[in-house]
Amino acid sequence: MHPRLPVYILISLPVLLAQGNTADSSKKTPAAPASPPPRPPPPLGDPSWALGLRLYQALRSDYSSVNTLFSPLLVASSLGALGGGAAGTTASQLQDLLKTTTPAKAGTHAGDLLSGALKSFTQANGTSFHLHTSSALFSKQAPAVTQAFVKDSQAKFRLQHQPLGKGDSKADLMQLHGWAKSVLGGLEVAPLAALIQAKAGALILANALRFKGLWEREFSVDSTDRRTFLGKKYTKVMMMHRAGQYRYHEDMENMVQVLEMPLWEGKASVVLLMPFHVDSLTRMDKLLTLELLSKWLEKTNMTSVIISLPIANITSTLSLQKQLTALGLTDAWDQKAADFSGVSDKSKGKLHLGGVLHWASLELAAQAGKGDAELEEENIDKPKMFYADHPFIIVVRDNATGALLLMGALDHAEGEALHDEL
Ligand SMILES: *[C@@H]1O[C@H](CO)[C@@H](O)[C@H](O)[C@H]1NC(C)=O
Ligand SMILES: *[C@@H]1O[C@H](CO)[C@@H](O)[C@H](O)[C@H]1NC(C)=O
Ligand SMILES: *[C@@H]1O[C@H](CO)[C@@H](O)[C@H](O)[C@H]1NC(C)=O
Ligand SMILES: *[C@@H]1O[C@H](CO)[C@@H](O)[C@H](O)[C@H]1NC(C)=O
Repeated sequence: MHPRLPVYILISLPVLLAQGNTADSSKKTPAAPASPPPRPPPPLGDPSWALGLRLYQALRSDYSSVNTLFSPLLVASSLGALGGGAAGTTASQLQDLLKTTTPAKAGTHAGDLLSGALKSFTQANGTSFHLHTSSALFSKQAPAVTQAFVKDSQAKFRLQHQPLGKGDSKADLMQLHGWAKSVLGGLEVAPLAALIQAKAGALILANALRFKGLWEREFSVDSTDRRTFLGKKYTKVMMMHRAGQYRYHEDMENMVQVLEMPLWEGKASVVLLMPFHVDSLTRMDKLLTLELLSKWLEKTNMTSVIISLPIANITSTLSLQKQLTALGLTDAWDQKAADFSGVSDKSKGKLHLGGVLHWASLELAAQAGKGDAELEEENIDKPKMFYADHPFIIVVRDNATGALLLMGALDHAEGEALHDEL
């Protein structure tokens, strides 16, 4: 750990400020203090956050995980759909994964919250962000699935049903991989680390999502430059810069910066959590509970911030069986113990969960959305620095429902390797 002064940023501050002023000088509105937009509903009581934080912890307890990324909303919705076709302890274990510590709004079920959030999220496609996504339940030589289950899981949770071919596990893997690639619009995805051995009667849950946020205010393209990112390996990457008014909080005790950046038209926002100093995320990963994260989000207030972010992609291929088992989902995997009687009348001793696979990709770029947005002038005064040249945690939340769309970590930014210059 070595505190450094981002010298270049100090020099370029007047430039960023000047750019901000010229951009806004066409408007005649006098400089007024920025009025913060209303906050989305809080994370506590939301099933996507409850599952998301626990799953993140489980994934990150494996210290070899790098650039973890997943969509808690997608995983939670698909497990919710599966819960609708389960009974007995299989069903209760699935429900427990979606349980929140504080009760949700009176009279709302986890399933309804997730279904509403999925709708809200999909509707924002094309304004606040570009999105490719699909969820599917693949089945291997399974008995006929009941129409009621197919209809319900499609309508509520956007879960499609697809049979796996008759081939061996290699063929299954190729089919699943091909599905993910096509959902992600042709993006090259990393192969699965674990092998999928789908026995007859296996159900494989697959989620794929590719996300590119469009900022409410774009990063200046002119001030983009090459800098060092101090991740797992030191690399040279392009970084983008912007000065503006953002919700921001510094937790002095835990030495963490919290920054929330709205996306175009305010339908979603990106939250970044970063340790003060260059550090791996191990300490922060352990610190991160839903309660602490909620507190941080509540404490942010409108502050002048100079932001420097790497232009980078986080892409992740995950098999979640181990983590979900650790979180209490045990019966579903076992042919004898699993009870998916709501999925098929001939499920007994056959239908079981054979895998939960997840492909996710997030692009961090400079662009904002397009159109006539009435953006207030920003007064930059004694700005804070958010200089993201080292690993950070990234979270995307839906504004209308507050649901957790994406959660991940940038441990490593792809770029030309740097050899121990520092
Ligand atoms: C989002 O919009 C794009 C462009 O209109 C479209 O290709 C894509 O399928 C949409 N994604 C979803 C999940 O509907
Ligand atoms: C964001 O959510 C808040 C709280 O639900 C709401 O008041 C506001 O209108 C929403 N903004 C947009 C742009 O949807
Ligand atoms: C934001 O909060 C910080 C710390 O609580 C405080 O020092 C600062 O004055 C606040 N800023 C505004 C604009 O309310
Ligand atoms: C991120 O991925 C997109 C889409 O594949 C690509 O166009 C872009 O160049 C990538 N950015 C970086 C920094 O690798």
